[in-house]
Amino acid sequence: MIRAGIIGATGYGGKELIRILSRHPEVEITSLTAKLDAPVSISEVFPFFRGKVDMTCHPFEGTGVILPQVDVIFLALPHRVSMEIAPEFLARGKKVIDLSADFRLKDPEVYEAWYKVAHKERHLLENAVYGLPELYREKIKTASLIANPGCYPTSIILALAPLVREGRNPVELDDIIIDSKTGISGAGRSPSLTAHFPEINEDMLAYKVAGHQHTPEIEQELSNLAGRAIKITFTPHLVPITSGILSTAYLRLKKKIQWEALSVIYQDFYQGQPFIRLLPERTYPRVKNVVGTNYCEIGWQIDERTSRLLVISAIDNLIKGASGQAVQNMNLMFGFDEETGLK
Ligand SMILES: NC(=O)c1ccc[n+]([C@@H]2O[C@H](COP(=O)([O-])OP(=O)(O)OC[C@H]3O[C@@H](n4cnc5c(N)ncnc54)[C@H](OP(=O)(O)O)[C@@H]3O)[C@@H](O)[C@H]2O)c1
Repeated sequence: MIRAGIIGATGYGGKELIRILSRHPEVEITSLTAKLDAPVSISEVFPFFRGKVDMTCHPFEGTGVILPQVDVIFLALPHRVSMEIAPEFLARGKKVIDLSADFRLKDPEVYEAWYKVAHKERHLLENAVYGLPELYREKIKTASLIANPGCYPTSIILALAPLVREGRNPVELDDIIIDSKTGISGAGRSPSLTAHFPEINEDMLAYKVAGHQHTPEIEQELSNLAGRAIKITFTPHLVPITSGILSTAYLRLKKKIQWEALSVIYQDFYQGQPFIRLLPERTYPRVKNVVGTNYCEIGWQIDERTSRLLVISAIDNLIKGASGQAVQNMNLMFGFDEETGLK
C-alpha cells in the first residue's frame, strides 16, 4: 500500500483523482489540500463523496506537514504554482505527478513564450518524463517527476503518433491541420463568463485560434517521433457538454494507401496498449463511448477525392486527458499493474 496526497483537491482534476484513488486497492489517500481559507470536508465540496470518502481538505500551507505523510504527490494545480511546490517533494525522495504544464516542455524558452511566465526550475526539465505511457512506458517506470500531458495533446498525439513515426509516415509532415472540441470542464472549476451556462448552452465557439498554449507540446512530441521539426495548425473549440474531447486531424497522403494498410500501422504501434481502442472501418470515435473511462478511441477514413486522411480521436479530458492518465503513470512508477483502479 502506498500513501498518496493531492494538492488542488477541490478542482476538477483533484476530484477525479480522489474518485479513482479512493477505489484503488494499492493506495491510501493521506492528504488533501487546496488554496482554501479554512479546512473543509471533501464531501461538502463534492457531495458525490458522501459516505464514500470521509476526509478533510486543508488549506495548503507549505509542504512541511504533507511531506512525511506521502510516497507520491499529485499536483492538480494551475501552471506556475506546481513548479514552486514540486522541488521540495523531489528533494525528499517523493514521486511527483504534475498535472499542470510546468514540466512538459523541454525548452524553457518555449514555455516562457507560450505561458508568459519565467521558468524557475529549469534544471528539473531534463529529468521530467512526459507521462504518456503509450510513448514513454519504460522511462515512466523509473521517473521521479512526471509531466502529465495536456488533454488536447493526449487526444492528438495518440491519434497521430503511428503516422508520424520516423520512417513509417505515409503523410506529409508539413501539412497537418487539427481541430478539437472540448467540454466545459476543460476550463477547470473556477467560474468564468465563457463557461457560464446561459453563455455556452446552445452555443459553440473557436478560441485561442492560432495561439493555444498546447500547440508547442503537441509539436514537441510529434517532432520527437518524426525525428524532425513539425509545425501544426490547431484550432480548439468549446462545445456545450461537460466532459470529453473529440479531435479531428486532416492530413495529406503522400501516395494512395488502403484503409487496411493504415490499420496495420496502427495495430503495430498500439499492440498491447491497454487503453487504446482502434475502431473498425467506417466507425468513428464518439465522446459518449469514452467519458468516464481512461480509453482513447481512434478511427480514420481516407478521402479519395482530396487525397486526405482524416483521423479522429476521443477521450475524457479529465480521465485519459488528466487524472486517469496520472494514475496510469503512478501504477507504472510503483510497479502495479498498469490498469489497476482504471478498469
Ligand atoms: N480540466 C481539465 O480538463 C484538465 C486536463 C488536463 C490537465 N489539466 C491541468 O490540471 C491542472 C488542474 O486543473 P483543474 O481543471 O483541476 O483546475 P481547477 O478545477 O481550477 O482546480 C485548481 C485547484 O488548484 C487549487 N489551487 C490553485 N492555486 C493554488 C495554490 N496557490 N495553492 C494551493 N492550491 C491551489 C485550487 O484550490 P481552490 O479550489 O481552493 O482555489 C483547486 O483545488 C491545471 O494545470 C490544468 O491545466 C486540466
